Amino acid sequence: MASPASRRILVTAALPYANGHIHLGHLVEYVQTDIFVRFQKLRGHDCIFLCADDTHGTAIMIRARAEGRGEHEVIAEMRAAHLADFAGFEIGFDHYGSTDSDANRRLCAIVWQSLRDRGLVAGRAVEQLFDPVAGVFLADRFVRGTCPRCRATDQYGDACEKCGATYSPADLVDPRSTLSGATPEVRSAEHLFVRLEPLQEFLRGWTQSSGALAPQVANYLAGHFLGEPLRDWDVSRPAPYFGFEIPDAPGHYWYVWFDAPVGYIAATEEWAAARGGSWRDWWQAGDVPPAEIHHFIGKDITYFHTLFWPAMLAAAGLTLPTKVRIHGFLTVNGEKMSKARGTFVLARTYLEHLDPAALRYYYAAKLSGDIDDIDLNLDDFAAKVNADLVGKVVNLASRTARWLEATGLADRYPEDGGLFARAAADGAAIAAAYEDCDFARAMRLIMAAADRANAYVDAEQPWKLAKAGPASAARLRDVATVALNLFRQLAVYLAPVLPRLAAQTGNLVGGPIRSWDESQQPLVGLPVAPFTPLAARVDPARIAALLAATTPSPPALSPPSTAGAPMTTDSGAPLAAEPLAPTCTIDDFSRVDLRVARIVAAEEVADSRKLLKLTVSLGGDTTRTVFAGIKGFHAPADLVGRLVVVVANLAPRTMKFGTSEGMVVAASGAGAEGVYLLSPDTGALPGMRLH
Ligand code: 2FM
Ligand code: ZN
Repeated sequence: MASPASRRILVTAALPYANGHIHLGHLVEYVQTDIFVRFQKLRGHDCIFLCADDTHGTAIMIRARAEGRGEHEVIAEMRAAHLADFAGFEIGFDHYGSTDSDANRRLCAIVWQSLRDRGLVAGRAVEQLFDPVAGVFLADRFVRGTCPRCRATDQYGDACEKCGATYSPADLVDPRSTLSGATPEVRSAEHLFVRLEPLQEFLRGWTQSSGALAPQVANYLAGHFLGEPLRDWDVSRPAPYFGFEIPDAPGHYWYVWFDAPVGYIAATEEWAAARGGSWRDWWQAGDVPPAEIHHFIGKDITYFHTLFWPAMLAAAGLTLPTKVRIHGFLTVNGEKMSKARGTFVLARTYLEHLDPAALRYYYAAKLSGDIDDIDLNLDDFAAKVNADLVGKVVNLASRTARWLEATGLADRYPEDGGLFARAAADGAAIAAAYEDCDFARAMRLIMAAADRANAYVDAEQPWKLAKAGPASAARLRDVATVALNLFRQLAVYLAPVLPRLAAQTGNLVGGPIRSWDESQQPLVGLPVAPFTPLAARVDPARIAALLAATTPSPPALSPPSTAGAPMTTDSGAPLAAEPLAPTCTIDDFSRVDLRVARIVAAEEVADSRKLLKLTVSLGGDTTRTVFAGIKGFHAPADLVGRLVVVVANLAPRTMKFGTSEGMVVAASGAGAEGVYLLSPDTGALPGMRLH
């Protein structure tokens, strides 16, 4: 129970999209938020940690279609996967909701009505690209074409990676939909906008003077957005869209970024309702003391949380964030996480190889509460975890606890040269560092205390006292009592970072660690349980195994890429010789299950002029035998190891030479002799589906 002096603190981490798995980059945020929350709870504050899956938007809709499933099935599956990953890393949410909930729909309507009532909603026509085959309006990232400025091909619908130009998708030259390949049409549709300019003064005040933002962030907003009229925010999307239909605008849906942050309140409502309370106790000033609201986010979504979201809250008369705590990205071995380099590590892959506590500690030791990126250097990771957690902290217990198994702790706390008192006095500085999210500083202070404790054990040499027999028994008990108390004190300080170690420590001596104050008073006269190992060293072989499990197979033996080669005028002969087939729908396309496969064996078929017999792997133990009409174009030995694309759900066909269980995709046609196998980009893995 929180004490009367306790604060009410509502903490959120950004809602992860339901169309992807949690990876080590995401965990920078969830681990740091979890540490902050556990710290506040340990201090006795009334703190709740809320999160949810961010489920709506075009990407989920398209993915569900491509997989021939409903959106709800996809988001349910991803929710289960997210929850398992978070549990594996001991992320202790008080409630984990979904933006696709009744509570969220109702709360969006409340916020929306407030915006309407204040005259902040305006409608106007927007020209947007529409895919006539897929039947959807195209978000910018689903359109590619030629940059209108520098003519670079294959650029996204909103910006050119080559020259940096930004433009509207309608300005792209030769645009095409990445969903169907169709040429999009420009269609006009009514959109609804939130007018932000009337809130300019409010936003200036809140961003610059409320203390919610770090000065660096406040300056960035002042310099980039607040110096000129704020543009209206487009918050609706026409059907079809996976989201909530806007109650007073049938056929229009709230854009995913409108309903996502409202998901913070919806999660509060669900959590509060289960306890007979109301979300308003946390989000609206009333009888109860006002709550603090802390949002933890990555720097890429600053704009949404520091301009749009406060604008929505202010319009609805709700409590504004006390702090928006913005962090940087994760690099691995000094570089951006990369699938090709095998450093794009999923949470679940990590959990198959390494201890989550090691990563929690390493992140804590790196995070100082600022916006800078942090690096996971894998050599440093192993060295630091082994030196600090195993060598300094756990070692303290492992080399002293067993001498107390028979006797328990001494009945009076022995003279320790002021060590316990000094570390207790450090508690205020350690707590201040946690409060500022400067966990790196907290870890440094804690490890300095661990160094002093180990120096004590080294000087007292309890193993010699143990050998000396009964004459030294009392002294041995005293030394071990000091060492074990110093260890437990460290475990209290580390409890926000290492909840499992805290629980194990409680089992060893003194019972569950429930309060920060337990760092201030040594324990005496209590039994000590038999010692069980508390942490294992990070084994470099396990890191290697993790990377091997993440690293894509060696690149296929593919012909040199022509990307970046000068453009030539391509002949029209192949297309003329074989005109395009009639239009098919995305559903027609998704019935064909195209997969990446690796050729693991290839041999000539003796009696056939055209066929090679291939064994292709779809990953794991799944292989298929395929007869391919490529004899004479490819030597069997050259094919082994190569990645190709196969039609994996083609009905088996019995031929004279055996049964063919699929088809390898290849190009051929007029204007060029030959059969050309298709190879996916480096990084693709057998079994991946083509969408
Ligand atoms: O950037 C993202 O991953 C978003 N899904 C975060 C949403 S946070 C909040 F606003 F809901
Ligand atoms: Zn360009």
